[in-house]
Amino acid sequence: MKPKIIVANWKCNPENTVEAVKLLKLSDRKDIIIIPPFVFIHLAGSLLNASLGAQDVFWESGAYTGEISATQLSKSGVKYVIVGHSERRSNFGETDEVVSLKAKAALDAGLSVIICVGESAGDREGGKVAAERAIRRSVIGSLSGIAPKRSHKIIVAYEPVWAIGTGNADNPDEADERAKLIKSIAEGMGLFGVAVLYGGSVSKDNAAGFLSRPEIDGLLVGGASVDIDEFPKIISILNRFNGTSEAASAKSKSSGFSSRPPAPSKLSKTGKPGVSSKAELRGKKSRPADKSARPTFSRSKSQIEGVGASRGKIRRPLKKTAKKSIISLSRRPRITERSKLRQAPGLRLNKHSKRSK
Ligand code: PGA
Repeated sequence: MKPKIIVANWKCNPENTVEAVKLLKLSDRKDIIIIPPFVFIHLAGSLLNASLGAQDVFWESGAYTGEISATQLSKSGVKYVIVGHSERRSNFGETDEVVSLKAKAALDAGLSVIICVGESAGDREGGKVAAERAIRRSVIGSLSGIAPKRSHKIIVAYEPVWAIGTGNADNPDEADERAKLIKSIAEGMGLFGVAVLYGGSVSKDNAAGFLSRPEIDGLLVGGASVDIDEFPKIISILNRFNGTSEAASAKSKSSGFSSRPPAPSKLSKTGKPGVSSKAELRGKKSRPADKSARPTFSRSKSQIEGVGASRGKIRRPLKKTAKKSIISLSRRPRITERSKLRQAPGLRLNKHSKRSK
């Protein structure tokens, strides 16, 4: 059986990078797709277990101020994108036609799409037939024009609008029935194997009920995904269903995130924005506390004299036979980015002493 998944939709949360890093750390687990706001996507470059998604996409690129294209997302490490969330439909007037344009652009760029559909409170009041008619209309409109060969990249999130953010979730049996209906509508369009998630006030108390239903392939979690106490509990429930141990879910104990946020204007030494250094990636202190643990380096005589002179220290003289060029590669200490930095003052002085000669 395919493992079930959880999509963590952070919406417009949290307010700052420190909180975002905290959330990333606790959510970086197997079978989780983390969907942060665009401003935090660069922080997720070092996810070890989870996948990265975005909350929206635009179908063009170029002169569209404020928009983000599918290619930009895919080149930023994003693998999934939500389209047609009910909050975008109701607050920003997105229609099924717009949703389908976005979905096709995202699929063309190699992304997987999470297409949200669901009946409104009004549709629900009209009874089962009215609710299912609204769902059918939205599924057909949002998936229209998508080539059948893309169906393995399509996830539909069934999210009854009346259940989102209200604390009033659907019941698992009805959601399961709706998931089945959505799959059959997609199949009628030639799209086989589409996964269907349930979303709308998912919590630690109801997650198991939805995950246990056969037609529900996972959950889309909003509010609870940014709750640092609740989300780990939901992840544990998912692991139970997938038969994943906690250790396998979190591959590395020291997660890939620095607890200190990167300076916003700086690129890391690895060249990746948002990740400060390899040492930080491994969760180590930036400088070894024990000096003897620091690597030593072979330098030319003039370099050694230069460094020693600059610090008023007498350096170990270079052995006559120890020519830089004959030190075997195997004995040569690995020169890390940090060690290059430590060498830098000496190198500068050395240049200077040459110049002053
Ligand atoms: P909710 O949001 O879990 O807070 O109801 C679901 C969603 O993102 O649509």
